[in-house]
Amino acid sequence: MSSLIDRFGRRATDLRVSLTDRCNLRCSYCMPAEGLAWLPSQDVLTDAEIGRLLGIAVRDLGVTEIRFTGGEPLIRPGLLTIVAAAAALRPRPRLSVTTNGIGLTKLAQPLVDAGLDRVNVSLDTLRADRFATLTRRDRITDVLAGLAAADAAGLRPVKINAVLMRGVNEDEAPSLLRFALEHGFELRFIEQMPLDAQHNWRRDEMITAEEILAALRAEVSLSPDPDHRGAAPAETWLVDGWTGHDGRPAKVGVIASVTRPFCGACDRTRLTADGQIRNCLFAQDETDLRDLLRSDADDNAIADRWRAAMWGKRAGHGIDDPTFLQPSRPMSAIGG
Ligand code: GTP
Ligand code: 5AD
Ligand code: SF4
Repeated sequence: MSSLIDRFGRRATDLRVSLTDRCNLRCSYCMPAEGLAWLPSQDVLTDAEIGRLLGIAVRDLGVTEIRFTGGEPLIRPGLLTIVAAAAALRPRPRLSVTTNGIGLTKLAQPLVDAGLDRVNVSLDTLRADRFATLTRRDRITDVLAGLAAADAAGLRPVKINAVLMRGVNEDEAPSLLRFALEHGFELRFIEQMPLDAQHNWRRDEMITAEEILAALRAEVSLSPDPDHRGAAPAETWLVDGWTGHDGRPAKVGVIASVTRPFCGACDRTRLTADGQIRNCLFAQDETDLRDLLRSDADDNAIADRWRAAMWGKRAGHGIDDPTFLQPSRPMSAIGG
């Protein structure tokens, strides 16, 4: 087996699979109110096509972690079938989902039964009015119930992703942290990245990791997390005096993609819902696997094309380069 290595020596063992570009929310930092031009259904990979690619990734390319994303992955009808197919692979990959949480009340237990290990839920505000404005849907109750259902089903640690935006929810760092600590969820704040469909992102408006940590430190005492972060995007701190879901010290994280990029340790490869490999969140080019899947190509040919796609991965995202260009595919169609 020869794995997914790039010219800088990084090895991609973590596959992120977007199962749909559609979503049941309309977060203002992600999509316009009217939605986007969705992928035509014939372009979207079938459950069986995704299953075949997951098999190639695990057996032939050394992938050990698979995260299902969207859009909103819980609205994909075949989700449970796909998770079960992934869980049947050997060596068994670790399986997780990143979701807005809506639908977890019904799906958390069936997902566990299908073999899912973990879930990350996006929640940027605890205020119902703000949630409705920010996501353009009045559904915070569903998200909170979804978080509780995930926890009850044992999808632990349940992680919460929060994006803070100036003038929108920037004052909520302490209250989000308190909520997470009280419920045993692991909260991570994410610096906003230039991936919005409307290209409104501005570097100088972004709330930085430094600001977030200062806001947290005004409320709680944080110590460095002795567990090495490895290739994980989140830098974590222990919250003094609080215990997490597993009885160990509670953690809070910051994903500082912009101000403290972690590209040098990147271990990710991405598959879009329409069968394109992206070697980076910010890649300009994609590599099509769908045409091979729909031809009589064998698994080796698909694996070879995937390897070639990753070989061309750039050293880093280059957000601060004067020549930086935002990718044309928005976050909702990449899956974060
Ligand atoms: P775990 O830590 O394993 O739970 O997952 P994760 O943090 O990688 O996954 P999640 O889907 O929750 O992503 C959280 C945030 O990290 C999102 O905003 C992602 O876009 C961002 N992120 C995930 N992977 C990468 C990456 O490779 N590069 C960058 N720059 N950001 C990433
Ligand atoms: N920058 C950073 N994070 C983002 N997310 C969506 N858009 C952006 C962006 N532009 C987050 C979502 C979700 C995760 C997959 O990515 O809030 O938690
Ligand atoms: Fe990896 Fe690209 Fe993310 Fe950097 S921006 S960590 S290279 S996916």
